[in-house]
Amino acid sequence: MVSFRSLLALTGLTLAAANSLPTISVKGAKFFADGQQFFIKGVAYQGTPADPLVDITQCTMDAESMAVIGTNSIRVYHVDPYANHDGCMDVFSQNGIYVWLDLDTFNTTIEQTAPTWTAEQFIAFTQVMDVFQQYDNLAGFWIGNEVINTLAGSPSAPYVKAAVADMKAYMAAKKYRSIPMGYSAADIAELRPALQNYLACGDDINKSIDFYGLNSYEWCGDATYQSSGYANLQAMSEGYSIPIFFSETGCNVGGARTFNDQAAIFGPDMVGTWSGSIIYEWVQETNDYGLVSYGSNGEIYGDNKPTPIQPDYSNLAGQWKTITPSGVAESAYTPSLSPPACPSSTAGAWAVNGNPPIPTLGSKIVNQAAANNKQIPTESPSAGPTPSGFTAETTVASQTGSQTSAASASQTSSSKPNGAERLGAFAGAPLAFAAIALFFV
Ligand SMILES: *[C@@H]1O[C@H](CO)[C@@H](O)[C@H](O)[C@H]1NC(C)=O
Ligand SMILES: *[C@@H]1O[C@H](CO)[C@@H](O)[C@H](O)[C@H]1NC(C)=O
Repeated sequence: MVSFRSLLALTGLTLAAANSLPTISVKGAKFFADGQQFFIKGVAYQGTPADPLVDITQCTMDAESMAVIGTNSIRVYHVDPYANHDGCMDVFSQNGIYVWLDLDTFNTTIEQTAPTWTAEQFIAFTQVMDVFQQYDNLAGFWIGNEVINTLAGSPSAPYVKAAVADMKAYMAAKKYRSIPMGYSAADIAELRPALQNYLACGDDINKSIDFYGLNSYEWCGDATYQSSGYANLQAMSEGYSIPIFFSETGCNVGGARTFNDQAAIFGPDMVGTWSGSIIYEWVQETNDYGLVSYGSNGEIYGDNKPTPIQPDYSNLAGQWKTITPSGVAESAYTPSLSPPACPSSTAGAWAVNGNPPIPTLGSKIVNQAAANNKQIPTESPSAGPTPSGFTAETTVASQTGSQTSAASASQTSSSKPNGAERLGAFAGAPLAFAAIALFFV
């Protein structure tokens, strides 16, 4: 069924001006929209490498089905900045759904094995930002997804911060609204809490992230707050100075998918610290995490009606129906949180000592791009600080099972690491792994 609103969207008319969503902002460790705390009830929305925010008919069917179960956010990993997103962004806005979007794409992401933050990457990030900053329901940008998923990858963390610094400088130079910028982390026990703390540390908010997302598959089957490891995640996040939430969750092994972790995330132990979660994932792929399928023709998108996968879809709906956190009013919230200390390096573990200079491109290149000169400069930045205090040369251990998470399926056609592996990683138990084949498309 085509709704009135989607007809408007299809004809190029929009109700955006009249019905726009209040923009999301960060204060202290919480998100706010229209003066009230905002909690994420999200789904990851990307089944193929193709940009999912282009096909208005598909977006409309999906947005309406998401809205039925109380979804207020989607996470999108890769978009094509040259495509037109007005229709889909409007459809999601009309359905009360915000978008958390990666600035990187397949060939622009920072790589932990050979980290770079180049003018080419920067220009590509700005193209995504230029297009999406205009939408009221653009909630936040991800500077990277699971860039670092091994201990040996930790020397690349300053490159992530450099990207944050240049993208924040660009956002300010363009006078865009202050859109929160975050990082989505693989759940690697050995990197906790150093990575979480490093990305938020330091006294200059223009060089650190605004929110932290954790992709965690620790809560499987009949797990509990204690047995899942969530109690440990909570202990490591209490007092964190910026918002934190689950940027992927939804283990699919060890029994029925009950999504019982939602009750914990929004319950008394965690709701004061965490800002909600994003369920992995909306679209059914071969990895079997989907909440809907599009019929038997194997099409992931293609103007097909989403059919709920049961009981998962209804289980999630049932969880979210009981969850209506009120949170705090922005005016009543006066946080006095300090950024975490920058971790020291430890031999054989976290490799970045304190808060060394970060390899930004610097203001010359940023301002040039902001002045709409998007040509990629050939000269290397002269004014930028020389990275020191960490080494960019990485010797990432060969495939180490759960330590090497498969990138999100939206980046690959591989399976997610299963929850048992993640649990093993959490417990530091000896690990037995199925090789995770990565098929980059
Ligand atoms: C990424 O790939 C696209 C499409 O092939 C290309 O136009 C672009 O220049 C590439 N970007 C980088 C940073 O390599
Ligand atoms: C951060 O950036 C904003 C916008 O450019 C600027 O007003 C502010 O002074 C900067 N803060 C610091 C500590 O440099």
